[in-house]
Amino acid sequence: MEEIPGHVFPRRLDAPLPFAVNAEGVWIVDSDGKRYLDASGGPLVVNLGHGREEIARAIYDQVLRCEYVHPTMFTTSAVESLAEALAAHAPKGLERFYFLSGGGEAVETAVKLARQIHLEHGRAQKILLISRWKSFHGLTLGALAATGRTTFRTPFAPLLAEVVHIPPPYCLRCSYGLTYPGCDLRCARALEETIHNLGAETVSAFIAETVSGATLAAVEPPPEYFRVIREICDRNEVLLILDEVLCGLGRTGRWFACEHYGVIPDIMTLGKGLGGGAIALSAVGIHTRHFDAIRNGGGRFTHGGTFSHHSVAAAAGLRVVRILEREKLVERVASFGEILGQKLKKGLAGHAHVADVRGLGFLWGVEFVKEKSTLQPFPRKEAFVEALWRNLFKRGLILYSSTGLAGADGDALIIGPPFVIEEAQLDFVVETMIEGLKETLVRNRQHFT
Ligand SMILES: Cc1ncc(COP(=O)(O)O)c(C=O)c1O
Repeated sequence: MEEIPGHVFPRRLDAPLPFAVNAEGVWIVDSDGKRYLDASGGPLVVNLGHGREEIARAIYDQVLRCEYVHPTMFTTSAVESLAEALAAHAPKGLERFYFLSGGGEAVETAVKLARQIHLEHGRAQKILLISRWKSFHGLTLGALAATGRTTFRTPFAPLLAEVVHIPPPYCLRCSYGLTYPGCDLRCARALEETIHNLGAETVSAFIAETVSGATLAAVEPPPEYFRVIREICDRNEVLLILDEVLCGLGRTGRWFACEHYGVIPDIMTLGKGLGGGAIALSAVGIHTRHFDAIRNGGGRFTHGGTFSHHSVAAAAGLRVVRILEREKLVERVASFGEILGQKLKKGLAGHAHVADVRGLGFLWGVEFVKEKSTLQPFPRKEAFVEALWRNLFKRGLILYSSTGLAGADGDALIIGPPFVIEEAQLDFVVETMIEGLKETLVRNRQHFT
């Protein structure tokens, strides 16, 4: 194995990483001058494109104006304005926002908030969280407990808090072997069955990505899935947490993905694109009635930390919202997303090793299989998507890979470009994927076919 120079403990240990020296718009340039089209904005983060001067200025101005005050001692106009800007777009009733740094932190905050709400109502036994298999909610211990990705959980399983997982609405590989719509949404009904098995008086919340992102690669639920889920939650006094860290803030062509399904969560998490890629920023939106319950109950939520409600991060977040509004980028994603989907389907859906091309807005997934007719995945040890990803990276195309769509196996790529990408660049994405797929399969024939 190649040596890793320097003193950083990097995210990858298999090979040294190239140095990124410059990034602008949809492009990243490395220290050899090689250009990469960043068609996933890293992990679906750089929604507005790289190098936005306006965000840099907002950060600079806020540092000079008031860079840090402790969130238990002061508020700032940056934090207040960002909360107001988010509330103006958020689903009705979600009017209070708690600010943090990472998406995993936002998820853990949401889980604690749900518990706090029940405590305010005297429902002290309501502790358990229900989540879904093949979900992704983060890698810190609390968020990982909610995450349903087998290979991420297994090494740390003994450290994880108890979270009960149910099957996701993943029709391609339905856990019940059923077909939509004849299935009568068995996967949604599983929530109620699970709540009853556990005892409704013990269940605090159900958490789900509104559109499945990092693990399942852009799988939308059936249209009425979340309506059924909402009814089950209401019937059982279980709070609904929608994790929109990846799919929120315009990614699906609406400000928030839950708008597509006409559902309003009790709590919603945001992150990734909120800081425009320039700064770490996440948020938890909570319904006013729950905020009031906490305020009028004990009046305390013991949470936060040194860097919650950070004024500089909030100033960046506010700029992000203003740019989305001014440049009508959410609307752009809605119309260009259809074009991206058509191009991906035309170029890849018929391929012998492509099981599915799905998605919406600027969140698309392409799932690869060894055997199309049976959906048999490539065995994980063959690391198919890693080989394909490396091939595309070499060609100057950056996508986001996912695994674990079928137990520990399953391979997919996520296409989630910055909202400013041009149509010709979308063509480059699809053409490069086709060429990269061909070469990866040929090169590794003895392996993959
Ligand atoms: C839906 C969802 N929730 C939470 C997270 C965790 O966010 P972070 O990596 O910022 O902790 C992610 C990250 O991919 C995510 O996709």
